[in-house]
Parts: sequence; C-alpha cells; structure tokens
Amino acid sequence: MDRSTHDNWYLMKVMSIFGTRPEAIKMAPLVRAIEASPELAGAVCVTGQHRMMLDQVLSFFGIMPAIDLDVMVPNQTLNGLMSRVLARLDEALAEHRPDYVLVHGDTTTALAATFAAFHRGIPVGHVEAGLRTYDLTQPWPEEMNRQVVDRMARDLFSSTEQSATHLREERAPGRIFVTGNTVIDALLMTLDRIDADAELKGALDRQFSFLDPRRRLVLVTGHRRENFGEGFAQVCEALATLAQRQDTEIVYPVHLNPNVHGPVHECLTGKPNLHLIPPLDYVPFVSLMRRATVILTDSGGVQEEASSLGKPVLVMRDVTERPEAVAAGMVELVGTDAARIIARVTRILDLADSPSSSAVRITPYGDGGASRRIVDVLCGRIPLPLA
Ligand code: UD1
Ligand code: UDP
Repeated sequence: MDRSTHDNWYLMKVMSIFGTRPEAIKMAPLVRAIEASPELAGAVCVTGQHRMMLDQVLSFFGIMPAIDLDVMVPNQTLNGLMSRVLARLDEALAEHRPDYVLVHGDTTTALAATFAAFHRGIPVGHVEAGLRTYDLTQPWPEEMNRQVVDRMARDLFSSTEQSATHLREERAPGRIFVTGNTVIDALLMTLDRIDADAELKGALDRQFSFLDPRRRLVLVTGHRRENFGEGFAQVCEALATLAQRQDTEIVYPVHLNPNVHGPVHECLTGKPNLHLIPPLDYVPFVSLMRRATVILTDSGGVQEEASSLGKPVLVMRDVTERPEAVAAGMVELVGTDAARIIARVTRILDLADSPSSSAVRITPYGDGGASRRIVDVLCGRIPLPLA
C-alpha cells in the first residue's frame, strides 16, 4: 500500500538507503520504527553493495526493499561502486521522489546516496554521525566518507555526546541530535527473539555442535582495507599460535572480500582448533558473541555490540573512532602485531575462570531507544537543538 497519502493528509515519505551487512543491521530497527509510525511513509532502497550478506538480515527483520539497485560486482573498486550507486540511485530518486533520505555510517553506499540526494535537493539524515579519528588513512576510506556525509546532511544523529561534540567543533551545518546507536536496538531485539524462541535456540545449538562447551571460545572477525597484506599476515601468525592451546577453540567467520578470504584460508586451513567458516548470519553471530570468552576484531559494529554483551574486545587497529568503550575499559586497541595479539589474548584466556559469561550491560553506545528517538525527530516531536 502506498502510505504517502491517507485521508487527504500528506505523510512525509522517508527513503532509507543502505547496502552493506552492518548498515542493514543498524538500519533494520529504524526501518521498523518508521513503518510503525502513522506520520511517516517508509520506503527501503538497497544498493546491493553486499548482495550475499545483506538478504539474511532483511529476512530476519522482515524488511522488503521497494528498490534494489543491484550494484554489486566481484572485487569491485571503490570508484566503480560509487559511480554505479550514484547513477542508479539518481534514477530511483527521480522516480520515487522521497521527501527525506536516511543514510547510515561510513560506506561508499552512504557517501554516494548522500551526494545523490544532495544534488536533488532532498534533505538527508545521517545515522551514526560524528564518529572521527581525524586520520584520513584509517579507517580508509571510511573516515573521509563520514566527514563528507556530515557536511551535507541536514540532520545528524549521533550515538554519543562525544560524536556530537566533534560535529559542534567542526561547525557542521546540520542539526545535531544525540540518540544512541541503533546497533543496540538491533542487538536487544535479537537477544529477545533468541531467548523467547526455543526452536531457534535449538537450531543455534545444532549449528555450533562442533564446538566443545568446556573450551574457551575466541571469536575473530577481520576485513579492514588498512590491514590487507602485512596486517592480515600478522593476524594469521597470531591465530596459528593461539590455536595450539588445548583449552581453546577459535572461530573465524571469514569476510567474502577476496583480499581477506584468499590469504586467511591460505595461512590457516587445516588447524584442528581453528574453525574458518563463511560469514555467519546475524542471529548465529550474536549467539556466538554471547558465548565467546574474548572477541578479536577490526570491525566497528562488533566493538559496540560486544561491549554491550560484557565481552572483552581486542581491536586489531591502531586508532578507533569509537573511543568510549576504550575509555570505559571494555575495549583495548592491540593493532596487528602478532606478538602483541598473542600476549593480550593469552592474558584474557588465562584470567577467565569460566568459558563464557553473558551479562548484558548498559554501554556508552545506547539503551535500545535510538530508533524511537530518530522517528521522534522526523515527526517533529523532539524540539530542535538550540545550537
Ligand atoms: C565494505 C565497507 C566497509 C564496511 C564493510 C562491512 C566501503 C568502502 N567499505 O567493505 O566500510 O565496514 O563493507 O562489511 O563501503 N563480497 C562478496 N559478497 C558480499 C560482500 C563482499 O562477494 O556479500 C566481496 C566482493 O568480491 C566485493 C568485495 O567483497 O567486491 C568487496 O566488498 P566491498 O563492499 O566493496 O568492500 P568491503 O571490504 O566489504
Ligand atoms: N556480523 C555478522 N556475521 C559475521 C560477522 C559480523 O552478522 O560473520 C555482524 C556483526 O554482528 C555486526 C556487523 O556484522 O553487527 C559488523 O559488520 P562488519 O564487521 O562487516 O562491518 P563494520 O562494523 O566494521 O562496519
């Protein structure tokens, strides 16, 4: 049903545009909140930047895109991807004529969608605004994507006060709102679904029956472009050493990017305690995070989720645009030096007195109400910020 007109009242038509797995996870609760709002007409446009990793997220959250730009090609270049999104989205905006566009985070999809909307004079809301390292080389190209999107967006939805402070200091032209991060909304929704559904719980137990519950679990993810080459070689060396521990199992769902998949499988195949598996769907990944003793990652979203689950997180980067959990002692930056990774993981494994714990904590990144606050802004229920 087209909800843009209803009983002669005009509803604001909000198009949510995203294309990668993390964007889909973080936009899903917001899309659902928009759908539930009687004042808004929602439409979802996916660019398909991550074809294979996107659809399972949409299906779990019950989201049906109205538009699919289908831009993904194997081993795509950033410029190729950007130009395909820009050209195809321009046609979609001309056809569907949204009043407002929502983008998320730091991806090429978010950058191109912001340009496309900006050039057509459509206001943009940026979800997860104001994250910064102020180093354009890391994370690359995401730091530049964030800064550019934040210059063009009309509404800047920041997860934390610190992100909002960056935007104020930069004199960002948009209106700044601190809402919390929608990733926590998604996480809490997912944990509730798992805990309420015995069949789903049983299916997850069966999926991970290859893991010995008496052993400690190290969960690993890694895909950052800055770590391609020497960085990944060091990480693999560290994992090969850690896999020699008899009290430990390592699970590494390997990202589909060929620059990650190739070297990781080449170095690490055939180690009994080390399970290289394809990227996990979101629900099984959440259940493994809950089960892990320690999480080793270069991901942004995993830093936020894992600290919410009370899990120690070691981040394979030199800087992070999410310093709040580092300051709170939940996250430690370990870079990609093999000896340092081995030492820090070993320390946590040796100190852990039980294979895992699963407390959900309040984190700096949100309380589960971010989507509701963003919808309140879109509906004019939150007063505009004074400065
Ligand atoms: C992208 C984002 C990054 C985000 C990450 C999340 C940019 C510049 N980078 O990086 O910010 O943190 O996604 O995962 O937007 N591939 C597949 N199937 C998939 C996904 C990827 O085959 O479902 C392979 C393809 O060969 C693709 C390549 O991975 O060409 C690279 O994917 P791309 O989206 O360009 O970059 P990511 O490294 O995934
Ligand atoms: N994730 C997932 N399956 C995996 C690895 C990660 O569903 O095998 C989820 C994870 O819970 C988080 C998001 O994907 O919400 C993080 O994605 P990624 O690390 O690709 O990107 P980033 O957060 O760095 O942008």
